[in-house]
Amino acid sequence: MVSKGRVNDRTYRGASVIELIHTASLIHDDVVDDSHMRRGVLSVNAMWKNKIAVLVGDFLLSKGMLLSIDYDDFDLLKVISKAVREMSEGELLQIEKAQKLDIDEETYFEIIKKKTATLISACCTIGSLSVSLDKNIMQQMESFGYLIGIAFQIKDDLFDYSGKRLGKPTGIDIKEKKMTLPLIYTINNCKKSEKKWLITSIKKYNKDKKRVKEVIQFVIERGGLSHAEKKMYEYKNKALKQLEYFPNSPYKSSLEMMINYVVEREK
Ligand code: IPE
Ligand code: MG
Ligand code: MG
Repeated sequence: MVSKGRVNDRTYRGASVIELIHTASLIHDDVVDDSHMRRGVLSVNAMWKNKIAVLVGDFLLSKGMLLSIDYDDFDLLKVISKAVREMSEGELLQIEKAQKLDIDEETYFEIIKKKTATLISACCTIGSLSVSLDKNIMQQMESFGYLIGIAFQIKDDLFDYSGKRLGKPTGIDIKEKKMTLPLIYTINNCKKSEKKWLITSIKKYNKDKKRVKEVIQFVIERGGLSHAEKKMYEYKNKALKQLEYFPNSPYKSSLEMMINYVVEREK
C-alpha cells in the first residue's frame, strides 16, 4: 500500500525476521502459560519439556536478529528489538496483575498493547520502512498496527471464553489467573458480594473446573463478552479510519479485508 506493490529484499527479510520472532515468542508463551497445544498440535513444551522450549525459542530469536545484522538492516533491527522489549514488559505486567488480581481496564489495554499490538505494529513499521523513508507514512502504519493488534488480542481473549476448537486450549486464562476484558468488566459492574465471589474463585478455585465454568457463565450473563466485543469493534473501526490517510488501491483493500478477518475469524 505504501509503495503501490513494489517490495524488495529488505521487505522479505523484515517479514522473515518478524516470523522468526513471532514463533519464538509463541514457543516461550506456551511455557509461561503452561499450555500444551499450539496450532492444532502439541506445543514444544508439551512434546519436549520446558528446557527445550526455552532454548529453541532463544535459537529462533537469535536467528531472527542475525538475519537483520548480516544484511545491515539496522533500522529494522531497532524496531524489532524495541518490540521484543515491550512484549516482555507486557508479559511481566500481566504476571504481576495475575498475582495481585488488581487489574483495571486501563492496565488491560496497556498489557495487550505491549504484549501483542507492539509486534503487529512492528510488522507494519518494518513493511513501510523497507520501501519508504517517509517518517509520516511510517508513523501512520505504526499506529495502524497498534489499533489492529489491540482488536486482535481482544478477539483472542474472547476465544478463551468460547469453548471453540481453535488448535489451542480455551478456558485457560482463568486457570492462569489471567483477567481479561470480559472478566474485568464483569468484576467492575456487579454487586460487592458478587465481586468478592469472583475474586475468590480466581484466587482459590482457578483450577476447579466446575467453579471456572460458573465464572464463565456469570461473565456471559453479565454482558462481559458483549462489552469486550464492543471495544474490539471500536478498535477495528479506528483501524479502518487510520487507512483513510492512504489513497484507494488493491493493497489497501487487502488490508481492509485483513481487518475484517481479525474480528470475524472463527479461529
Ligand atoms: C499471545 O499471548 C502470545 C504473545 C502475545 C507473546 P496469549 O498467551 O494471550 O495468547 P495465546 O492464546 O496463547 O495464543
Ligand atoms: Mg498463551
Ligand atoms: Mg500468554
